[in-house]
Amino acid sequence: MPGFIKTEMEDRLAIITVNRPDALNALNSAVLRELSMAIEHLSMAADVGAIILTGAGDRAFVAGADIKEMANLSGLEMQRFSEMGRRLGDAMASCNKPIIAAINGFALGGGCELALACDIRIASNRAELGQPEVNIGIIPGFGGSQRLPRLVGPGWAAEMIYTGDRIDAATAERIGLVNRVVAADRLLPEAKALAHKILEKSPAAIALAKACLRAAWDMPLSAGLDFETAAFGIVGSTDDKAEGMRAFIEKRKPAWTGA
Ligand code: COA
Repeated sequence: MPGFIKTEMEDRLAIITVNRPDALNALNSAVLRELSMAIEHLSMAADVGAIILTGAGDRAFVAGADIKEMANLSGLEMQRFSEMGRRLGDAMASCNKPIIAAINGFALGGGCELALACDIRIASNRAELGQPEVNIGIIPGFGGSQRLPRLVGPGWAAEMIYTGDRIDAATAERIGLVNRVVAADRLLPEAKALAHKILEKSPAAIALAKACLRAAWDMPLSAGLDFETAAFGIVGSTDDKAEGMRAFIEKRKPAWTGA
């Protein structure tokens, strides 16, 4: 059944493209459902080590939650719509593989929030990011009011969310909203190069590192440090730990099993 997202595999790298270019890849409830299912599926797939998320066409990553769908929703239905975005964000956080946003154009509202739920963000120099919800009488509903201040600090989050102004890619880089900006035609190659660097590492270590980084978002420092110590014990019992250290001592490349 043709849907709104496309998933392609390149060896152990999955590339998910939100494919609704006529609506600048806006997130309606079907897209949210498809994205959640794809992430959960890829999370469980043993032959996948990293995920890139991008948008179809050259104009938008995702231009927001679908305003035409939201226009007809009651308050309770709006709450359910937000819960769908919450479930997608939760699936991305609990996915044991790194997710890289390749922001190829507008990342507005729910699109900026989708990028925020990724582990790493790379932007094209044509990208524009923003939380313009106040322009249409609402607030961020897919995690923006919580993830944006954690990433860029409360001042920039307040300015973006209260004014609804879009920021360009260079500003997004300066405030730490994206890791780096590249020419539009270099966006996917750069995202793939980054993913391949990660794919060379122990999958067991990457999964545990992600769990620790996610704990850092949620936990007070002492609990997060306890979490890291416990994870260090788990990683210490893996075959990958034994292999990684043996390979170092024997001066060769490690052969990971992820176990
Ligand atoms: N929801 C639903 N449809 C959307 C959309 C959204 N968030 N963003 C864009 N679209 C649709 C437009 O309605 C238009 O469809 P149409 O051709 O059937 O009228 C199509 O995508 C192209 O968008 P258009 O507005 O004509 O392009 P533009 O170049 O003039 O402007 C934007 C681009 C991104 C500035 C503008 O589309 C915009 O402001 N979008 C909404 C952004 C937003 O507020 N997002 C947060 C929502 S919570």
